[in-house]
Amino acid sequence: MSSFKLGAAALLALGLGAGVAQANEGAHIEKLDWSFNGAFGTFDRAALQRGYQVYKEVCASCHSMKYLSYRNLQDIGFSEAEVKALAAQYEVPALDEAGDPTTVKAKPSDRFHSPFPNEVAARAANGGALPPDLSLIAKARVGGPDYIHALLNGYHETPAGFALPDGKSYNTVFPGNAIGMPKPLSDDQVTYADGTKATVEQMSRDVATFLMWAAEPKLEDRKRAGVKVMGFLGLLTIFTFLTYRKVRRKVQGH
Ligand code: HEC
Repeated sequence: MSSFKLGAAALLALGLGAGVAQANEGAHIEKLDWSFNGAFGTFDRAALQRGYQVYKEVCASCHSMKYLSYRNLQDIGFSEAEVKALAAQYEVPALDEAGDPTTVKAKPSDRFHSPFPNEVAARAANGGALPPDLSLIAKARVGGPDYIHALLNGYHETPAGFALPDGKSYNTVFPGNAIGMPKPLSDDQVTYADGTKATVEQMSRDVATFLMWAAEPKLEDRKRAGVKVMGFLGLLTIFTFLTYRKVRRKVQGH
């Protein structure tokens, strides 16, 4: 009897688990073929630089990325001089000779400029919704870059009968379908220096790549280490097998 109860409880838990998983899944999220997928994955430097441009020119008016410094951009192919010039476009608080507050040009070691001074101001400017910091968002959401790409492409006409609250936009990918972020991208919103056509699809791929790098800048090192470990284990297996054969021959007296 008790084992029956246990079994029933386990089945119930499984059933509930499946129900919860279904509720969280929401819309279908397309799995894209990212250059950084797989054991040999690497970041596409051109896509990273385009993604930074999209973040800087579009997303940064609402979203901070406070764990990044300008000098981190050297990792994605910007030169030291370019990073210095990028940082110098922003002002940071400082003190003048008399000790009075002033501002100076940001340095490469400064963190990315935040659009709002605090959470209250950020919510006030966004109808009560808080634009999350994007430094780690690619790791903080199930689906990571696939989710971000789908979310940015998930804006559609509100279907009849859907009660969309004031100030929200209809998005098929966002849980609950009513998001406090107005559709941020439209075709040709940025002009890419490399001539790539700036469609919503292209910009959302590029910015998702950039956000993936921001959340896991050491991804390439990790994958390279993984490949080395697998290679080492492979060699070890071969040597172990050869030694085994030698020992067996000796034992058998050949
Ligand atoms: C006009 C302000 C604004 C702009 C521009 C903007 N966002 Fe947002 N974003 C928001 C707000 C507000 C939220 C919170 C939405 C909510 O909780 O309903 C949000 C939420 C998000 C989320 C989290 C969604 C989730 O699952 O919780 C991601 C990811 C995101 N934005 C990415 C971007 C990217 C990438 C860009 C640039 C292409 C961008 N946003 C541009 C205001 C903005």
